Amino acid sequence: MKMLLAIIQQELAVGFARAGYDEKYAGVTISNRPDLCEYQCNGAMAAKKEYGKAPREIAQDVADALAGSDVFSEVSVAGPGFINLKIADSKLAEYLSIMAEDPELSVSPVYAKRKIIIDYGGPNVAKPLHVGHLRSAIIGESLKRMGRRLGHEVIGDIHLGDWGLQMGLIMTELQERKPELPYFDENYTGDYPEEAPFTISELEEIYPAASARSKEDEAYRARALEATHMLQEGKRGYRALWQHIINVSVTDLKKNYEKLNVSFDLWKSESDAQPYIPDMVQKMKDDGFAYLDQGALVVDVAKEEDTKEVPPCILLKSDGASLYTTTDLATLVERMKLFAPDEVLYVVDKRQEMHFEQVFRCARKTGIVPENVRLSFLGFGTMNGKDGKPFKTREGGIMRLETLIADINQEMYQKIVENRSVRDKDADDTAKIVGLSALKYGDLSNQASKDYIFDIDRFTSFEGNTGPYILYTIVRIKSILSRYQEELSDGQNVSGAAEGSADSASQATENSGVAEQNAQTADSFAAILPAASDVEKTLQLQLARYNEAYMNAFSDLAPHRLCAYIYELSNNFNSFYHATKILSEENAEQKKAWISLLDLTRKVLEDAIDGLGFSAPERM
Ligand code: ARG
Repeated sequence: MKMLLAIIQQELAVGFARAGYDEKYAGVTISNRPDLCEYQCNGAMAAKKEYGKAPREIAQDVADALAGSDVFSEVSVAGPGFINLKIADSKLAEYLSIMAEDPELSVSPVYAKRKIIIDYGGPNVAKPLHVGHLRSAIIGESLKRMGRRLGHEVIGDIHLGDWGLQMGLIMTELQERKPELPYFDENYTGDYPEEAPFTISELEEIYPAASARSKEDEAYRARALEATHMLQEGKRGYRALWQHIINVSVTDLKKNYEKLNVSFDLWKSESDAQPYIPDMVQKMKDDGFAYLDQGALVVDVAKEEDTKEVPPCILLKSDGASLYTTTDLATLVERMKLFAPDEVLYVVDKRQEMHFEQVFRCARKTGIVPENVRLSFLGFGTMNGKDGKPFKTREGGIMRLETLIADINQEMYQKIVENRSVRDKDADDTAKIVGLSALKYGDLSNQASKDYIFDIDRFTSFEGNTGPYILYTIVRIKSILSRYQEELSDGQNVSGAAEGSADSASQATENSGVAEQNAQTADSFAAILPAASDVEKTLQLQLARYNEAYMNAFSDLAPHRLCAYIYELSNNFNSFYHATKILSEENAEQKKAWISLLDLTRKVLEDAIDGLGFSAPERM
């Protein structure tokens, strides 16, 4: 469905043309003076030069040419030559009525459909999932959903870290503790046990212990490095152990990501890319891109116009070992071969920006990724505690994601129980649903590249720019809609039957004396009527901007803009709701139109939060 802005722009272009001016001046933006108008055009000022006329005169000509337009209720000239526009109420209502019957809610699939791989999550096996990985999961999941909603083919790849020193550290520590295991027996030729020789909790204890020891014990560290090398060389016992580590970790990771409502299409890992390295390196040598520098094999990626130093990509260290960069390049080789994507998007901590700059440049220079394939990096900032430092537990340790989620759910549970509108048996499930919105919205509503402060009190509040506030608005609408349906089916006053909404009391009073006899069925749709008040017009305008907001948020890789949109929509709705007696409206046609408007608002909010990666409960 065409964007409202496009309709407005088109009509204005007609005005310019009729008045004898070039249509190219008919650019329209949302008004920066909402008290005066809804949209504005500054083209008359720009046209001054070409026509040698005062901008006010040009603007007036255009306004005159648009008299009688059915798109605008007002076209006026202001200041030095601004054209101020108000949309005709009837045009807006017509637009919304079409939108309300469109299953896509006006968000049409893009014409230029692309295949996009999103590399997000990026946890490292054997290390507990901590808050550092939270942002990647939340932001990446949202972009995946938004991209799909717009019709792109999106493939989410977790890109597990399973090839680094952490693997060697675990093996070394395990050998210390259980030297009798067959994995360490050089002469063992039988099959290895199917059962892993550790549980996830043991694994999570082993890694930090090994990591700490390696920092103090030089010989131990050397052994871990050697073990990593042996694993990479394919030593049989280490490979079997490594497979156990992955299996145990992945089971645990899946459980945690499920709690976050995050899922991946591909569970590929760093190790999957290793087979591509030898050929890739050989080709880079043959093509003259890679050369030896102090024993290491490197590719220069600096450009003349660089303002800061971009060091060469190191492909192989002097001992022949590959690095993080090598793995990411080989992963691109693999992705091009297996998926031939139009774009690869990385959602990673912004401190890795230089790494990706090097990888992207090297991939382009050496022809791994052709020019027409987009490589994007969305670097996110740090999640800080209230002290402004990276988020930690109260004891100063690394916060596990599981603990964080449990804390939020607990806080949410308290608030919901205090609200006392939900029967206790629901409170637990509701707390999880609302808690997830608190966590995700708290993150997504910030521009990704910025650091933000994780504030559990603020995030779980039902008021302000929070997930629970958005859900509360949805639940409020659902409650009104279901009371309306009850009225229809009872054909009688249902004021006493309402429950569920925390503020049902305020609306219940307006039901008195309303015995609705209309025979509207549950799914018949009534057209949305021209706005009856300013608050309603504001709500309608915001609804009509949904497709534009969605597309822009995705193309700018900015879920925070979708958050800003639904926050404003929720505010607009709540203002309308407080100013309007909906269920006690006597005019049946008006009432039905408002019900359609409410239902559209609900659908838009629910569709948007689905794109953000959370959902609303029935009641809260
Ligand atoms: N495992 C990495 C880390 O924890 C993140 C991986 C990001 N993705 C990539 N293709 N390098 O820092």
